[in-house]
Amino acid sequence: MAQEDVFKKLVSHCKEYGFVFPSSDIYDGLGAVYDYGQMGVELKNNIKKYWWDSMVLLHENIVGIDSAIFMHPTIWKASGHVDAFNDPLIDNKDSKKRYRADVLIEDQLAKYDDKINKEVAKAAKRFGEAFDEAQFRSTNGRVLEHQAKRDALHERFAKALNDNNLEELRQIIVDEEIACPISGTKNWTEVRQFNLMFSTDMGSTADGSMKIYLRPETAQGIFVNYLNVQKTGRMKVPFGIAQIGKAFRNEIVARQFIFRMREFEQMEMQFFVRPGSELEYFKKWKEIRLKWHKALGFGDDHYRFHDHDKLAHYANAATDIEFLMPFGFKEVEGIHSRTNFDLSQHEKFSGKSIKYFDPELNESYTPYVIETSIGVDRMFLSIMSAAYCEEQLENGESRVVLKLPAALAPVKLAVMPLVKKDGLPEKAREIIDNLKFHFHCQYDEKDSIGKRYRRQDAIGTPYCVTVDHQTLEDNCVTLRNRDTMEQERVAISELNNIIADRVSITSLLKTIQ
Ligand code: GAP
Repeated sequence: MAQEDVFKKLVSHCKEYGFVFPSSDIYDGLGAVYDYGQMGVELKNNIKKYWWDSMVLLHENIVGIDSAIFMHPTIWKASGHVDAFNDPLIDNKDSKKRYRADVLIEDQLAKYDDKINKEVAKAAKRFGEAFDEAQFRSTNGRVLEHQAKRDALHERFAKALNDNNLEELRQIIVDEEIACPISGTKNWTEVRQFNLMFSTDMGSTADGSMKIYLRPETAQGIFVNYLNVQKTGRMKVPFGIAQIGKAFRNEIVARQFIFRMREFEQMEMQFFVRPGSELEYFKKWKEIRLKWHKALGFGDDHYRFHDHDKLAHYANAATDIEFLMPFGFKEVEGIHSRTNFDLSQHEKFSGKSIKYFDPELNESYTPYVIETSIGVDRMFLSIMSAAYCEEQLENGESRVVLKLPAALAPVKLAVMPLVKKDGLPEKAREIIDNLKFHFHCQYDEKDSIGKRYRRQDAIGTPYCVTVDHQTLEDNCVTLRNRDTMEQERVAISELNNIIADRVSITSLLKTIQ
């Protein structure tokens, strides 16, 4: 099945099974805003717990905070967001549709990649096992021609971005003959900068209200609190502050479901280090974070680092962890060495000293910062897209199964009486009443057992327990594994021991410590 179709199916699966709904659904939705349903919120909470515990439980020198969404507007002036948190936008004069100029060019780059990949796929089919892909890529005339055009475009594009040259961005769009996907015309406006921050007014207009912003990242709440936390928590550099919270960006191009949203959630950790040691910690955090991702078991080939060609003026190293989504490798997390830029800016704009006194060096300095920043929603999408599976079974039937890591699954165990009588429902309820304190259980007695298994497969429940007549005599049940569909007979008294370990976030954390 084409990856595009897989993605469409995933989006409808998310709605059908209560993972993600379009916001304001009965009013036909609101662009790039989504709600999480009864299953989605459980998965999301588990992702957040996995991240939070990996930060604050596994590291003695990391603590958490929860700062307000509204912050003093000068914070965004100091951080550079008021002046520079922009995307270059361009309008098509015929369709009146607005696009991000950089995204139009990135799509064009992807078209060259597609052309190359198609040539490779065609040749692979033609030559069969004897096919040498590396040799084909380095010698085939058509591939080399596409590759040369792609490289030239990439170089020109990177330079235009680096120079902040909006005219050149437009010229690239014109030269590459990029057409509006709606009108099909190349009738473009100039490229303009568009600030992504949402603003609102605080206070009544009568006594002079203040324009404030909805935070576009949670990080600034950490920076402006770093000394409060350091002093009250008696933290010594190096130390980290973690935070999970909502962020808002007025994205021009909102697409790919929950990949790019206008209201989303971030999990950010700022790690404060001595000046000069930042690159060593940058390397360390790259390793720690990749291990966290890989522990979920989707396969190492699903991840790659993408080092930034263009560094923000305040950063001295930056990389993304990309995940193989149905629409290609995409950024899920950013790891940035942000120098002492943010703290120095806040010191300058607030007029207050926020230097750290290092008792070991007997000197004061502004710490350097390594940031790890991951979107909860993007992580959610990456997990769902890797877990979604359509399987053909031996008996000719098919099933849709979410192969979620057990520790993240919304429901851990479904308990089902084989029939709705003879005391089986009561026995099933008794089992749930004992286990519900340990993990999320569901009771289901409707339809055939096969249909009930399918429903649980579709929401990713790792284990199902069936209570039958034999259970009333021997206190044993059938335990079914979601992925292998194998069944084993186990004693009810053993259920907690068998399952708890396999589905707990603690077990997952033990693999990465
Ligand atoms: N404090 C650094 C920062 O915010 P970023 O690369 O702009 O860096 C970090 O964002 C992460 O937040 C991204 O890797 C992505 O997972 C998530 N993110 C950013 N914009 C998003 C959006 N519009 N919708 C969903 N997630 C987003």
